[in-house]
Amino acid sequence: MNYGKSVTVRPVRNGRGMVALRAFEIDDLICRIRGRIVTPKVVWGYWKTDPRRGANCYRFDSELYLDPEGEIGVFSNHSCNPNARLVRTKSGLQLRALKKIVIGREITHDYSTQTGADDIWTMKCNCGERNCRGKVTSVAKLPAAVLRRYQRLGAIPAFILETMTD
Ligand SMILES: C[S@@+](CC[C@H](N)C(=O)[O-])C[C@H]1O[C@@H](n2cnc3c(N)ncnc32)[C@H](O)[C@@H]1O
Ligand SMILES: [Zn+2]
Repeated sequence: MNYGKSVTVRPVRNGRGMVALRAFEIDDLICRIRGRIVTPKVVWGYWKTDPRRGANCYRFDSELYLDPEGEIGVFSNHSCNPNARLVRTKSGLQLRALKKIVIGREITHDYSTQTGADDIWTMKCNCGERNCRGKVTSVAKLPAAVLRRYQRLGAIPAFILETMTD
C-alpha cells in the first residue's frame, strides 16, 4: 500500500491509524480517500461476511458508499475532537485539515459527519477526548452545538446534511 509522503500508518490508541509525516495548515489536503464505489447491498454483504470491511466503508453520496479496502482510507480513526474533515468533490473524497496538525500527530475525523440520518451504524467510542460522546451515531444525533460548529467549519458534506431533511 502506498501512503504517499504526507502520512504514514502507525500503532495508535485505537489499533492502527494515520499519522502526519509533515505539518498541515488549516484546510490543507492531507490525502484523497480512494476506493471502489459500491451499493448499499454490497456493504450489507460485507457486514455479513467481513464486518471490519463493512465498518470501513465511507458514505459517498445519498445512494452509494466507497470501499477503501487496500487504500490509506482504511486507517482513518474517529475522534470526537477531530483534526481533519471529509470533503466530497466531483471525483471523490478528500481528507483536509480542520486545524493545524504537527508532525507525528494522529489524523482523525468525526465518523458522525459521514454517517447519514438513514444509516443505522453506531460505534462505542474510545477516543479519550474530554468531549468524547461515548457512542458515535449518525449526524442527526450530534449535539446541537457540535452540529452547528461542524456546519460552520464545512465539516459535513451536503449529501449527509440532506439525509436529515429527507
Ligand atoms: C477505518 S478503521 C481505522 C483503522 C483501525 N484502527 C485498524 O487498526 O485497522 C475503523 C475502525 O477502527 C476502530 N476505531 C476507530 N476509531 C475508533 C474510536 N474512536 N474508538 C474505538 N474504535 C475506533 C473501529 O474498530 C473502527 O471500526
Ligand atoms: Zn470519542
